[in-house]
Amino acid sequence: MKPLLIAIDGPAASGKGTLGKRIAAHYGFDYLDTGSLYRAVARDMLDNGEDPAEASHALVRANALDPGTLEDQSLRKARLGEAASLVAKHPEVRRALYAYQRSFAGAEPGAVLEGRDIGTVIFPEAEVKLFITATPEARARRRYLELEAAGSDIEEAEVLADIRRRDERDQNRAVSPLRRAPDAYLLDTTNLDIDAAFKAAIDLIDTAMDRAGCAS
Ligand code: CDP
Repeated sequence: MKPLLIAIDGPAASGKGTLGKRIAAHYGFDYLDTGSLYRAVARDMLDNGEDPAEASHALVRANALDPGTLEDQSLRKARLGEAASLVAKHPEVRRALYAYQRSFAGAEPGAVLEGRDIGTVIFPEAEVKLFITATPEARARRRYLELEAAGSDIEEAEVLADIRRRDERDQNRAVSPLRRAPDAYLLDTTNLDIDAAFKAAIDLIDTAMDRAGCAS
């Protein structure tokens, strides 16, 4: 059977990471959190005293990225989310990371990729697209609890301000802005816990797979 692609996009802390991993495990698919690519470029720049707003340095770091470091827990730090969204504005960085993301297609039975531009730019041909969202307040609450559990002493108001700033930057940048693809299913998780959101996502995906003529 043809390998299947599930594209998941949405704003910061919408729940797409947790959902994406569970969806991939449910179907036995490969999984890539594409935000980790931008976070890793940001980390490598900050570790070397470079400014994430500087495109030429960002491109050198993107080309030298070590995929073996993409699952490091340290990438989840709040300041790397902010620096990643600065790095992600550079068209040359996005171009440099394109081939790595595309290389995730093709292996059977399929792959789940999540980010901001998967259904619009990286895999516009994906068989199933989800756009996961929630209010900024609900997202800030979740991210605050995650960061607190990881030992951070950041304030919830600071997390909300960070989320609003990143939403604004990610939605309004010139290249690959955060957008719902016209054929993406919208899933608002504001009032859903993770189990309810997972069930809603699986229902949508199974329906989409039936329509695309794939067995789930
Ligand atoms: O986990 P969270 O939703 O906070 O962020 P992330 O998915 O790790 O992404 C960090 C930043 O990388 C985002 O704010 C975007 O600016 C950027 N990003 C992007 O531009 N394109 C993607 N496909 C994934 C992330």
